[in-house]
Amino acid sequence: MAKKLWGGRFKKKTEPLVEEFTRSIDYDKKLARWDVLGSIIHVSVLRKSGFVTVKEAKRLQNALDKISKQIDQGIFKADNTAEDIHTDIQNKLEKEVGSLVLKLHTARSRNDQVLFDLKFYCKFELLAVMGLCKDLQISLLKACNKYFGIIIPGYTHLQHAQLVLLSDYLRSYEEMLARDVKRLENVGKSIKLSLGAGALAGIPIKAGIYNEAIKEYLEEEKEFAKVFNVEKSVDVSKSIDTVSDRDFVIEILSALSILGMHLSRLAEDLIIWSTKEFGFVELDDAFATGSSLMPQKKNPDVLELIRGYTGTLNGNLMSVLTMLKGLPLTYNRDMQLDKPPLFGSFEIIERELKVLPRLIETLKWNKKAIDAKIKDDEAIYATDFVYHLIQKKKIPFKTAHDIVGRLIQKSGGRKIADMKEEEIKNVSDKLDKKELLGLMNPVKSVASRISVERKKLKT
Ligand code: ARG
Repeated sequence: MAKKLWGGRFKKKTEPLVEEFTRSIDYDKKLARWDVLGSIIHVSVLRKSGFVTVKEAKRLQNALDKISKQIDQGIFKADNTAEDIHTDIQNKLEKEVGSLVLKLHTARSRNDQVLFDLKFYCKFELLAVMGLCKDLQISLLKACNKYFGIIIPGYTHLQHAQLVLLSDYLRSYEEMLARDVKRLENVGKSIKLSLGAGALAGIPIKAGIYNEAIKEYLEEEKEFAKVFNVEKSVDVSKSIDTVSDRDFVIEILSALSILGMHLSRLAEDLIIWSTKEFGFVELDDAFATGSSLMPQKKNPDVLELIRGYTGTLNGNLMSVLTMLKGLPLTYNRDMQLDKPPLFGSFEIIERELKVLPRLIETLKWNKKAIDAKIKDDEAIYATDFVYHLIQKKKIPFKTAHDIVGRLIQKSGGRKIADMKEEEIKNVSDKLDKKELLGLMNPVKSVASRISVERKKLKT
């Protein structure tokens, strides 16, 4: 059993079941890199404030660098019997520097340590997600250009509404992702690093030394310079709210839920459009799955999982919100449970964003099937007829709406071409069969909606 960071006041050994129950190393080992980094900064603070000598600081620093290298090389092995990653790293340092390690935890608590680690982790993970969002945005934009000019039925209530460009449609998902990126960026920017809160009440080290040390470190490390606006990334000295705050976890989980919800809507549209009933699009074989029983099946499992994972993403958000509700200040062990949902949501979103770009790029759009669906439904031009009556015949909107409604009813599903001119005139003498037939042109219909900018629309 690994050593603990506490124990002096206890007469009995901890019950193994309690150790197993309270341990977080299984998941917080993800924070190893950031924990070592926090300790490097902490050592320089201890040196500046006279808690360790320059020589001692050097020894600790070297040992921390050694662990840091192991992490970078992927050979760091967490001890699964340690209580958490903070304990594990302390134990590993002891092997390197012996009893000197006993000075390392001077003026710090795992309560502020865990926050520092978590905030650093979030800053980098947010950056990764933003990069993946941008990859997907590029794939969508590529598809917009490639399929520019294809016209599809636009839907409201999943019923034919008005004709739109496929590229405008795909572009709307790109716009959602642009909002997601902004949202993630804003959350990332608002996360302020801090150390020196101690367990809850501050530490006997002058305010500011800590923040200076963090700033110095961030400025030195080029890798961090692009992630942190140093001035804005470091918090002024506070303690009670700092160790109690998990708002940033909730904000991230919420932003990831919104992003996941966007992806699920894209997934759902593609699932519907790839059915036999629609046949608008076909998934590439490499991005579809089969059935163990029905040999003909080609299933959109990837898209279904993207749709399904929204349950886990939303659940993760709910779980942290609920865990924090009514929690008295300051740190309570409940807060350890913010990590599995946070790590889980990042993992899900990153996996979704990795698989989607190629899936989008390899889709085969079936223009013939789309055109046939449009041809089949002349009622999709009903709004165009209304605008025609308003603009060319100077009829008030409501009257025009009513006339076209009656025309649709009268047609009883027949084509306008198959209706007698007289029949049409009977609905309203303002209706002219030839004019109506002329309006039923998909390109004209889309181009008439001039409030939307479409530079490349071919007519
Ligand atoms: N593993 C703990 C967590 O993630 C570290 C903090 C423990 N602090 C304490 N006072 N027991 O929250």
